[in-house]
Parts: sequence; structure tokens; C-alpha cells
Amino acid sequence: MLQDQQFLRIPGPSPIPPSVQRAMSQPMLGHRGKEVSAIVKSVKPGLQQIFGTTQDVAVITGSGTAGLEAAVVNIVQPGDEVLVVVTGAFGDRFTKICNAYSIKVHRLDVKWGQALQAEDVKQYVQTNPTIKAVFSTYCETSTGILNPVHELATAVREVSDALIVVDGVSCVGGVQTEMDAWGIDIMVTGSQKAFMLPAGLTFVAASERAWTVIESNTKRGFYLDLTKYRDNLQNDATPFTPAVSLLFGLQQVLELIAAEGLEQVYARHTLMMNMTRAAFKALGIPLLTTDADAAPTVTAVQPEDFDAEAFRKVVKQEFGLTVAGGQQHLSGKIFRVGHMGYCSPADVLQTISMIEIGLLKVGKQITLGTGVAAAQQIYVNEGVLV
Ligand SMILES: Cc1ncc(COP(=O)(O)O)c(C=O)c1O
Repeated sequence: MLQDQQFLRIPGPSPIPPSVQRAMSQPMLGHRGKEVSAIVKSVKPGLQQIFGTTQDVAVITGSGTAGLEAAVVNIVQPGDEVLVVVTGAFGDRFTKICNAYSIKVHRLDVKWGQALQAEDVKQYVQTNPTIKAVFSTYCETSTGILNPVHELATAVREVSDALIVVDGVSCVGGVQTEMDAWGIDIMVTGSQKAFMLPAGLTFVAASERAWTVIESNTKRGFYLDLTKYRDNLQNDATPFTPAVSLLFGLQQVLELIAAEGLEQVYARHTLMMNMTRAAFKALGIPLLTTDADAAPTVTAVQPEDFDAEAFRKVVKQEFGLTVAGGQQHLSGKIFRVGHMGYCSPADVLQTISMIEIGLLKVGKQITLGTGVAAAQQIYVNEGVLV
């Protein structure tokens, strides 16, 4: 029995709701038939609502990185200059994708664990008017911060026509996203995080301004050419064979989100963040980020007096609880607890409870129940029925 019991609390992939799992096991359909076309049509409004856009949202078969690459290849060409704001490993990924396409990258590094300052980006763009696009990450999964992408877009637009590209892979669907109102030109997300699906789909939307640039770009690549996705969407179709099983699942995910209500989904994520952070604070274990910078989907913890990797190993062995380690220079120095998608305050209480035992097992002096009580108190104070 126990080998079937896994507690996946990493910042994606995240657990799959049973009804989504069931939806994905439906028999395969021909991708050019009426049934798949009906699914493609039916998921459009839900995706638009989650993105906060009136534009169509392209559904591309590929992981989140394919969406990031689509953003790059569609709006810039070799030799163009872009600014990448690097707040962690996924900002860094944008620089690598741009390098692969011989794009000239300006890099604005922010200390890992801190959110970007919109004013700094504004100044950078002002002094470098040749920059054609600014790339940033909404939730920086590697550090658990949420970048103020609304402020960023507003600030950059005051001084430049550069397009604003945002990687929302680890939070869109769990955190408020108003692409049109905030002035974001390209928004990307993936299926395996707040969207509660397996990896394999990436969702990309582009603004009116971005479409003008995309249409004048003669080197949009082939598979990731966004105009192909847009043109096919007009006929409720996809340019290439879609991951039909994931589309079955996506349809159900959107039903679950609609039934809960998007505002409520966001409130649940904020509550889970607050509960998780309160627990570690009560246990006297430092967090990597400030409350102001913290992301509602993932919490990064920075132990001072026990080994993060030993702790991760213990909770995995004891309970089948998986929490993520650190990336790049934070490897071995932090661990990250995911609380997104199919995850509730009840799951957070259970996770904290398992974590406390893991802490004792690696020699950390704590009083059992301290973290759970702090999380419970947050729930009692702020809790919303979900
Ligand atoms: C913020 C962010 N961007 C991009 C990616 C890459 O997505 P994928 O691994 O699906 O290609 C991830 C995955 O963890 C992520 O968290």
C-alpha cells in the first residue's frame, strides 16, 4: 500500500486531482475530429480568464521551456538586443535560450532570494534604448520569490517600447495574472504546476503589440511559430498533433478551477503560503525570502544548523514526502516546499507535521507541534473554506 502513497510537495510537477486523472484516461481520439476540436474550443475562455487576456492562448505540446523558447524565437532575431532580469535559475534559462539564438543579451542580476526592483529595470532600459524586449520571471521557482511583473511592465513602458515577456510557469493559475491590464506582451506557463496536469503542455499568449512584432519577424522557427497556433485556433485546431490526453485533463482542470472560483484559488494559494511561512518561523528556521517578496506557490527554506539534503532524504524515506533541493549555487543550502495546484490547507498541515518529524530525525531541536500550531493559527485567522 505504502508504495502508492507519495506526498509530492515540490514546485512542480504537482499532484493530479483524481477527476483529472480519470479524464486523462479516456480513449484516444483522432486529433482532427470534431471531438478534439470541441475541446480546443471549450478550453479557450478558461485559459483567457486565467491569463487575464482577451487574446487567444496558444496550447503547445512541449514543456514550459518550449513556451519560453517560443517567446524568444517569435519576437527577436539574431543580433537583436534584449534585457534578461535574472532573479534565479529560470531567469538564467532565458539568457541561455537567447544565447542559443545569437541574441545579444544584457543581463540584470538580482541577488537570489530577492525580487527585482522595477525602477532598476526602468533605468537599465532607459540607458540602453536599443533593447527590444525585457524578459523576466513571475514566480522564480528556484528561490520562491514573486517578481512584481505588473510594476515592471508599467515602469518599462514609461521609457521604452521594449516588449515585456514573462515566464509564469510556476504560478499562473495559482496567482493573479492580468496580462492585458498589466501591459505584459508575452505570458508563458506550463501544465505541471498550478495547472495540476502532467508536464507536456505549455500555454503562450501574446499582446496586440507583440503580434505586430511577431508578424514582421521573418525567422519565427517552425514548430514554435506562434502564428501557426493562432491561425489554427481560429478554427479550433492545433497546427500539429496535440497531446490529446492532456487536453482531456485540461478541460477538467478548467472545470475544477471554475467551480472553486479563480479568486478563491488565489486566496487558497496565499493562505497556504502564509501557513507554510508561519510554521518555519515558529520553528526558528530561516526562510530565504522576505514576506514581501514571497511566492504563493513555493517556499524556500534556508537551514542554518542542519543539513538540507539529509533532511530531504529522511522525509522521503520516512513518509514518501518529496521536497525540492536548491538549484545551482543554492544546491545543498536550501530546500523548497511546493504548495500549488492540487494542494489544500489540509495538505499543508500534514506536510508541516511530517517535516517536524524529519527535523527531529536530523537532530534539529524543536518541540513537536510548534510549526503545525502556527500554521493552524493562520488557518483559523485567515482561513477560507475551499
Ligand atoms: C519558472 C519556471 N520557468 C521555466 C521552467 C521550465 O519548465 P519545464 O521544465 O517544463 O521546461 C520551470 C520549471 O520548473 C519553472 O519553474
